[in-house]
Amino acid sequence: MTVLAWDPIRFDVGVARMNDEHRVLVGLMNDIHDRAGAGAGKAELQGLFRKLADATVRHFKGEEAYLESIGYADLRTHKAIHAKLLADFTAHVARFEAGDGRVEKAFFDFLSLWLRSHICHVDMKYGPNAGRKAG
Ligand SMILES: [Fe+2]
Ligand SMILES: [Fe+2]
Repeated sequence: MTVLAWDPIRFDVGVARMNDEHRVLVGLMNDIHDRAGAGAGKAELQGLFRKLADATVRHFKGEEAYLESIGYADLRTHKAIHAKLLADFTAHVARFEAGDGRVEKAFFDFLSLWLRSHICHVDMKYGPNAGRKAG
């Protein structure tokens, strides 16, 4: 079972490098979901959350640098949305770390919403600016 199945057409933001990074993020989220469902321990899940956090920070930085390089007009807003997502994600991880090792449904709902609303709507807007060239 997955948080969200990768869909190369629905998730295509028009920049190959960003699509690849998004696919990695979706994969990590699904790993967490699968391992949590299989009863993985807190330490293992913490390690996976750290991996997702690192990949997310790297992706946001890379995406922002890319948007800057193409002179993207909405960069400020996009950066602010990234910062909010990261803050919310960090808060969810902190709640998980303070808990008994179970991942709350609200955390998975957040991850799934992140993908659906951010990649499919917010990130999708920069595709036309990129002229659909490889990023
Ligand atoms: Fe983004
Ligand atoms: Fe993105």
